[in-house]
Amino acid sequence: MDLKDKVVIITGATSGIGAACAKIFGKAGARIWITGRSQVKLDETLLMLQKEGIKCAGGICDAADPVQNEKMAEDVREKFGSIDILINNAGVSMRALFSDLDLKVFHRVMDINFWGTVYATKYCMNDIVKNKGAIIGVSSINGFRGTPARTAYTASKFAMNGFFESLRTELMKLGVHVLVVCPGFTASNIRNNALLGDGSTQKESPRDEDKMMTSEEVAAAILKALRRRKRDLVLTREGKLASFLNKWVPGLMDQVVYNHMAKEKDSPFK
Ligand SMILES: NC(=O)c1ccc[n+]([C@@H]2O[C@H](COP(=O)([O-])OP(=O)(O)OC[C@H]3O[C@@H](n4cnc5c(N)ncnc54)[C@H](OP(=O)(O)O)[C@@H]3O)[C@@H](O)[C@H]2O)c1
Repeated sequence: MDLKDKVVIITGATSGIGAACAKIFGKAGARIWITGRSQVKLDETLLMLQKEGIKCAGGICDAADPVQNEKMAEDVREKFGSIDILINNAGVSMRALFSDLDLKVFHRVMDINFWGTVYATKYCMNDIVKNKGAIIGVSSINGFRGTPARTAYTASKFAMNGFFESLRTELMKLGVHVLVVCPGFTASNIRNNALLGDGSTQKESPRDEDKMMTSEEVAAAILKALRRRKRDLVLTREGKLASFLNKWVPGLMDQVVYNHMAKEKDSPFK
């Protein structure tokens, strides 16, 4: 796909993978619309993109709010005329044993990660179908393999994968490309902002962020997968191995995943 002047919406693009996607898609010639919940972060990101010579605009949109998603699509149509590509990237993580997890937190994670994806896709889809464009879902390795103390996050990402598999098949005769991206551990703010059982934020990452794939590497892989019209993109060597082993020896993987996650700093289980 030639991205010159294509209109690309990236939800949750004021940090991490979303901001990196905004930069690389913009550098490839696309017109970029970004969202987030903080005006300060939105303005900073737009300034960074403008300095790169990228045509961009953006607006506040809480992914969990259907009305704000409908307005986002209207605002983009008003500014750029139409929508070619939607990157459903906005997301939050959580970390707590299910027994300690307030159900309000479970709902919040589903509302942002899953329902946010459904709302944005719903309100952008007519334009994307008309333009034979693309819908991208930034899911996770947790979209096909659960980890302990991440029940809500895992459920939200499994739900995303199911939604997109169904939608992809539904749209297959209409020329729309549906890509599901499953990043592995990627350096970003996701673990600092992860919700604990009571809804407060974790504040500090329990993992060594320096040893992870960078958000820029993930964004470059997403662009390449879009150009190749790939169906799925599973990232990191660890993620690819998890995908393979979980298919063939899921029981063994329960053990491996438990032991691996128990070693995290301040793990709620041992
Ligand atoms: N980093 C990883 O290891 C990893 C691995 C697999 C998958 N992923 C997925 O990658 C996506 C991007 O995450 P990231 O790692 O880049 O994390 P990040 O640095 O924390 O970025 C998340 C972005 O989403 C925005 N956001 C959060 N809640 C939102 C809401 N309710 N409405 C709109 N925007 C919201 C944040 O901005 P505000 O908070 O200002 O709104 C921020 O711009 C997520 O879907 C995540 O699940 C990440």
